[in-house]
Amino acid sequence: MRVVLMGPPGAGKGTQAKYLVEKFGMVHLSSGDILRAERADGSELGEKLKSYMDAGELVPDDIVVEIMAKAIAKQDADKGLLLDGFPRTVTQAGALDKQLEQLGLPLEAVLVIEADESLLVDRITGRRSCPKCGRVYHVKNIPPVKEGICDACGAELVQREDDTEEVVRQRLAAYRKQTEPVIEYYAADGRKMIRLDGGAPLEEVAQQAAEALAS
Ligand code: AP5
Repeated sequence: MRVVLMGPPGAGKGTQAKYLVEKFGMVHLSSGDILRAERADGSELGEKLKSYMDAGELVPDDIVVEIMAKAIAKQDADKGLLLDGFPRTVTQAGALDKQLEQLGLPLEAVLVIEADESLLVDRITGRRSCPKCGRVYHVKNIPPVKEGICDACGAELVQREDDTEEVVRQRLAAYRKQTEPVIEYYAADGRKMIRLDGGAPLEEVAQQAAEALAS
């Protein structure tokens, strides 16, 4: 199964991706995680990525397309793909279509998780994640058993640098302006579109996503 997972920051893409990968066994590629790993090595490219990401702006298409094309090419295509956060512009969507076409592996579905802006800011500013195993929590909605400590592996939880209210508002603006047109691009092209209410409890969203993908 090859699926693009879309939605504004905080809609629950990363959270739902974990459920979907457990259920369907596809490879999960999060462009945000891949870019954060790239910037962590302190290279010149890493510094450039940091400047865009910390400001809540999209990283330029040429950089993202190159990095994601390499990441996709490295995967075992038979396992399927869950692309989370990529594509985020119509240019990126065109480049992805081209690459998947060349591989003979077209996209099968576009899953869009929608949610109200007021909810998103609260979710993002309250998010904490585990730097070791990647598990995601929320200080109020999904707290760990012991404050600040990952239930799964015991590591100390961290807050992302771009998870401040000011930067979140910028990320939301970028989503509305640059990423929403990607939904129109896929819908106009007759792709299988699945739209879910990300404001619902997470088990409910997970169940609806799994049922829609399996149908
Ligand atoms: P990225 O890392 O992709 O961030 P994002 O899209 O802003 O999405 P988030 O990870 O913030 O949210 P999410 O939807 O995954 O929510 P989560 O599941 O964690 O991108 C970061 C930056 O990288 C971008 O700003 C850009 O600069 C750059 N970038 C990345 N891709 C790019 C691209 N393709 N092109 C250009 N630039 C790119 O959930 C959030 C919180 O809510 C958590 O605390 C969670 O526990 C809680 N929660 C989730 N679901 C529920 C629920 N149903 N009920 C209650 N709480 C819930």
